[in-house]
Amino acid sequence: MERPEPELIRQSWRTVSRNPLEHGTVLFARLFALEPSLLPLFQYSGRQFSSPEDCLSSPEFLDHIRKVMLVIDAAVTNVEDLSSLEEYLASLGKKHRAVGVRLSSFSTVGESLLYMLERCLGPAFTPATRAAWSQLYGAVVQAMSRGWDGE
Ligand code: HEM
Repeated sequence: MERPEPELIRQSWRTVSRNPLEHGTVLFARLFALEPSLLPLFQYSGRQFSSPEDCLSSPEFLDHIRKVMLVIDAAVTNVEDLSSLEEYLASLGKKHRAVGVRLSSFSTVGESLLYMLERCLGPAFTPATRAAWSQLYGAVVQAMSRGWDGE
């Protein structure tokens, strides 16, 4: 896989990271619209959410959004050497497998990430920036997919 262009990644992330919760919410609203069957995977204290809106306004879920944005932030920081995150991402993959996430759902997460970036950046989301993010996200998922090894 080609290496993502660091400057395109850093520049575009600066805009998103000014308001991570807002943009992370756009990402997950899109994810639930594309793949509603992911909603029941989020349960806190055994409680199931009745709708995406219910989920997107719960404090525990907002914490998950913050966690996701922090992982992306770490990937952006280490864009030139993602190998330093490999162990962490493999264990994160394992945790997601354990809560019932299928590896294939991470493609929908990728689509939702690109959607959010496009909404946030507008015309600044050029084809080159889109390609850089596809490469970065692909590398993150590849590292996380080690958590599904042996399936
Ligand atoms: C298919 C989409 C996803 C689902 C269904 C999902 C589900 C979950 C669930 C149920 C938990 C445990 C409860 C919690 O901490 O809120 C969790 C934890 C977590 N998720 Fe996700 N997640 C998804 C995508 C992601 C992505 C894309 C990232 C980051 C790249 C991520 C990062 C994290 C982190 C950092 C934790 C905390 C792990 C820990 O406790 O050490 N999640 N996720």
